[in-house]
Order: sequence, then C-alpha cells, then structure tokens
Amino acid sequence: MTAPACMRGGTVRHPDRPTDGPIVARTAQMLGKPLIPWQRYVADVAGEIDPATGTYYYDTVVVSSPRQCGKSTLIDTEDTRNALLSPDRKIYYLAQTGKDAENHFKEYAEQLAKSRLAPLALKPRRSNGGMEQRFANGSFIRPLAITKVAGHGTQMDKFTLDEAFSLTKDVGNTILDGLTPTMNTRAKLTGVQPQMWITSTEGTAESTFFNDRLDRLRAGDVPRRTCWFDFGAPPDVDPEDLDEVMRWHPAAGLLWDTKQLRDFRAQFDDNVAGWARAFLNRRDTGMAERIIPADLWDATAIAPLNPEDMRGTPLVFGVDVDVDATHTSISAGMRLPDGSVATQLVTVLDGTGGAPAEIVRICRKYDAPLIMDCKGPSSDLHNRLRQLDEQGEPLLRFCELSAGDYLAVGQSYVSGLRNGVIRHAADTDLDLSAENSARSFSGDSWRISRRASMGLTSPLESAMLAAWGANHMPEPAGLQIY
Ligand SMILES: Nc1ncnc2c1ncn2[C@@H]1O[C@H](COP(=O)(O)OP(=O)(O)OP(=O)(O)O)[C@@H](O)[C@H]1O
Ligand SMILES: [Mg+2]
Repeated sequence: MTAPACMRGGTVRHPDRPTDGPIVARTAQMLGKPLIPWQRYVADVAGEIDPATGTYYYDTVVVSSPRQCGKSTLIDTEDTRNALLSPDRKIYYLAQTGKDAENHFKEYAEQLAKSRLAPLALKPRRSNGGMEQRFANGSFIRPLAITKVAGHGTQMDKFTLDEAFSLTKDVGNTILDGLTPTMNTRAKLTGVQPQMWITSTEGTAESTFFNDRLDRLRAGDVPRRTCWFDFGAPPDVDPEDLDEVMRWHPAAGLLWDTKQLRDFRAQFDDNVAGWARAFLNRRDTGMAERIIPADLWDATAIAPLNPEDMRGTPLVFGVDVDVDATHTSISAGMRLPDGSVATQLVTVLDGTGGAPAEIVRICRKYDAPLIMDCKGPSSDLHNRLRQLDEQGEPLLRFCELSAGDYLAVGQSYVSGLRNGVIRHAADTDLDLSAENSARSFSGDSWRISRRASMGLTSPLESAMLAAWGANHMPEPAGLQIY
C-alpha cells in the first residue's frame, strides 16, 4: 500500500518486510470501527516485522495529524491488538490529564464490551485513578495521566503519549527517560519488541517536546527504529477554503462531511490560528503581535541611569506583579530636566513575599511615591502594602491611579515612546518583557497580556506605571532624591 496523498511526510512501507497490519485491520473490524485508509497505512508500516528477529521492526511510532482524524481510535485498536498478541502484556494510554485519559478509556471499554471481541475481555475496572481493561489472557490496558508517569520506572510493553503537544521538552523527556530502560527489559522477557507511540495534532510554540521531535523528523533526522507519519494541509492552503481543507484532511468524507466541517469551523469563531492548527495541522506559532514593535523599542533605549547622578530629579516607583504572583517588578520613573520621562527597571523579585520589604526600603531611600494597580494580580500585594502603611508611621506614599487611568497607562507609554517623550534605560529583562507582551482589548482600551504562556509582563508593566506616575506626580518638591 502506498502512502495516502494527504501525507505530508513520513515513512514509506517496506514491502519486503511482513506486517501485522492486516491483523490490526481485522481487530478494527471486530471492534466495529474498520480502519480508514490513513489508519491502515500507519498500521501496516508500524506493524512491520523485522525478518531478523520476528518481532516489530519499529520501537517508536510518531503520528502527527489534524483533529478529528481517528488518532485516538487507531490507538485503541492497536492497543487491543497488542493486548491479544501474547499473555500478560502491559499497555498504557497516556493523555494530557488523567481525566482525558479516563474519559477516553470509558468510551473504549464500552465499545469493546459491545463488540465481537467482548468474549476475550474481562469486566473493566472503572474506579477513578485505577481504571483498567483486562483480557482473559492476563494482558491489560490502563489509562494514565502523563504526569503520573514522570520519573517512575513502570514496566510497559506498549505505551502511547496521546496529545503530545501538551508536553514541554522537560516533562516529555523525563517520562521517556523513566520508561526506556524498562522497555528493554520487557523486550528480553516477552520476545516482543515494545513500542512507544507518540500521537498529536500540531501545538504551539510551547509544545517544545513534540515540536522538537517533529522538526528533527521533518529535517530527515529519523532514527532507524522510528517510523513517522505527518498528515495535514500543505503550507499554501487557505484555512478558510473549506473545500481545500476537506481535500487535505485524512478523515474528511469518511468520519464526517462538509456540513460538519462548517460546524467545526464555526466553533473557532475568529481564532483562525486555532482553526488552522486543529484542522490543517499547522503549528500555531503566531503569537499575538508585540505591543511595542521591536524597532520602536530599540530606537527609544537609553544608557542605564545611575540614581546617584539623578539628584533633584522627580522620581516614582512603579510596581507590578505577574499573573499567578510568580514575580514582582519594580521600575523607576524619572522626569528629566527636559521634561521627558525615563524609566528604568530596578529589580525583578521572585514571588511577592519579599516585595513589601524591598518596596518600603527603596521608596524610603529615595523618598519617592509608589504607583501600582490595586486590582488584578497586584491586588494582594497592594493590600499588604496598604496595611503596612496603616500600621503606625506612614512608610509609603501612593500615587493615585483610578481604574480608568490604569487602562490608559499602556497606551500612554507607547504614545510617549512614539513622540520621543518617554525612553527606557536599556535592560535585558525589560527587553524580554517587551518582546513577550501583547495586548488584550476591553472595549477601546487594552491591557497587557502574555504572548506565550511563559515569560514575564511585570517588568514592562512596572515601567509603564512608573512613566505614568512620573507624568502625573503632583508638581511641588518633596519627591526629590536626597
Ligand atoms: N475507523 C473508524 N471508523 C468509524 N469511526 C471512527 C473511526 N476512527 C475514528 N472514528 C470516530 O471518529 C471520531 C473521531 O475519532 P478520534 O477521537 O479517534 O479522533 P482524534 O484524531 O483522536 O480526534 P481529536 O484530535 O479530536 O482527539 C470519533 O467519534 C471516533 O469514534
Ligand atoms: Mg484524540
């Protein structure tokens, strides 16, 4: 069998090797879901037998395909076949969360119980956290949360990482490091080559585990015992051209039709990148645009400022906390003699625990007021500082910042950069933060959001607040550096 036309890349069938594919196909029929052509092709190649050993040629199978393709169903069929291959086989289905794996497992167990293979299966165990389908021959299939496996040397004859896009490289590799040695032990014991299946739709820039593997395979760096399959639309296909999407989706017209595709499309609304990822199997690297374009950012950098040289300069400190309170950033905003404002990132602290002490110290040292949001991720820190302030001597002076002001802070900073009245002291943490910051709109105004789910926005936000504070400080002195 030749590869389906919608295969973008992958392993060709070696016709000189026998294959277990026909038995997988028969298993699928008996389960009531006969393989569709792409599933059959994968079964034939992945099931190739090494004439030298009489067991599976491949130890690793990588499948990249769009959503709603029949990936998880193919895994069920392969797992069932594998369970029946010999007694006491240990098969695991790992998904993003235990719940995903278990929900999928329940459907499979029901399907099996109703199928012609039911007589070979025992009653499934369905208790949460301990689900298992056992067969009369002693083999079992178990669903597991991917994270449960990390670092454990569980013995496995076959396991699948389904939805592998959800893994970072660290987590994925930790899992594999724990499992690979036990697979070698099982190979010796059972005489059957264990297989690891990694299946997924393309992910995002954060899918570092799957991206890295796919990129290497696509570049031709294919280990001898790995077979791989990459289905999806070519790069020039327009995601909105549903006829073309149908043409390149391996399950189109087989598991669903054009009308259903239109419904799938509607679910994604204006999220075109998400749609293209799901149904064209296109990686979603398109993070939102950065708030401050790189050229504007570079053009408005100035050399770092030394506070000792800034005596007499009105100064304010902007404070911001990242989502989930992972970091606290403090920036200084200074009004320079020419009327322009310079911001400088002072420090990025871990968490918020040590922040009050540092904020009090720095504000007192420079006798400068403080500006921060009293809502959102900063609200807890804000409350703690207010309480400190209310206990006895006034330690801090807060700049006023209404909710309406807060929404204008970002836009005002960007305009200031454009108009040459705001500049930022060069700092690599601040550069990274500017690179990582996108905007999310609420009505006409916007606030900062992260472009990727990693990276900090608090350094840039603290700078924006500091600039706002410097521009809105009450005029009289008293805000001087002593
Ligand atoms: N060969 C088949 N015959 C009949 N139905 C099938 C077959 N393969 C898959 N299906 C059905 O098609 C639907 C999608 O299949 P499945 O969930 O396996 O796809 P998937 O690629 O894992 O999708 P997702 O990416 O959304 O998890 C399911 O309802 C499944 O039962
Ligand atoms: Mg699936």
